[in-house]
Amino acid sequence: MNVDKRGQTKKIPVVDLSDPSDELVAHAVVKASEEWGIFQVVNHGIPADLMRRLQEVGRQFFELPAAEKESVTRPVDSQDIKGYFPKDPKHLKAWDDHLIHNIWPPASINYRYWPNNPSDYSDDGFRDVTEEYTRNVTKLTEKIVEGLGGDEAEYVIRINYYPPSDSVIGAPAHTDLCALALLVSNEVPGLQVFKDDHWFDVEYINSAVIVLLGDQIMRMSNGRYKNVLHRSTMDKEKTRMSWPVLVEPKHGLVVGPLPELTGDENPLKFESLTFQDYVYRKIKKLLRD
Ligand code: SIN
Ligand code: FE2
Repeated sequence: MNVDKRGQTKKIPVVDLSDPSDELVAHAVVKASEEWGIFQVVNHGIPADLMRRLQEVGRQFFELPAAEKESVTRPVDSQDIKGYFPKDPKHLKAWDDHLIHNIWPPASINYRYWPNNPSDYSDDGFRDVTEEYTRNVTKLTEKIVEGLGGDEAEYVIRINYYPPSDSVIGAPAHTDLCALALLVSNEVPGLQVFKDDHWFDVEYINSAVIVLLGDQIMRMSNGRYKNVLHRSTMDKEKTRMSWPVLVEPKHGLVVGPLPELTGDENPLKFESLTFQDYVYRKIKKLLRD
């Protein structure tokens, strides 16, 4: 159970998008973004069956024999982080078996990193399902943060595969580099968020989409909205999988506090930088620390 130091139970906010009042929905999103930097969305319009199929093709890919995953494996000398990363046995700190590739806009996609197994002979091929999910998840992003998911954004899916383990952490504590991430997971809980000096479990809600705010929204809002610190644990008995879709500014786009949110009362807290420079600096700093 999520209990803080004062013994209070805390729950990650849940926003119901079927609420007829747009004003109440917007208010709930703003409040959750200010207090937590994370919320769960229900009745979001993405069909439950599509979410199930997304999970099914992802699971089938990860369960293929290693040799069959080679065609989408990231080459060792690649400058890019896209592709399939098998678990690196030398990397003991976290479990890092994942597949990452762009899904939108079409010009940013390199199909070399899209598995064609499970194949597209039926509607349940990896590509068909991922494209259908992309149409839905981009629409949902626009609904949640109007204007932010549009022409200036790139969408990247990351599929994480965490087999049973009692000794390793899934993903170590971090904030996301992107603007925001929309995450679904299978039924095995494991995502945790840090708030008020305490780690809280994110409750698994069937068919919900978890929205995590990242560094860019925090910077654009001059610190008003939180970039949530999170990590994931692994289950002792069950395989956990998660599918965050990362919404990133296009790489050359300059991101910084919006002028309408800053002024004498609210002095600038962050420097404006292209997304690319921001990523470069953060990674350099992480490697140094
Ligand atoms: C991540 O933040 O990259 C992974 C989160 C999760 O597996 O739930
Ligand atoms: Fe993350």
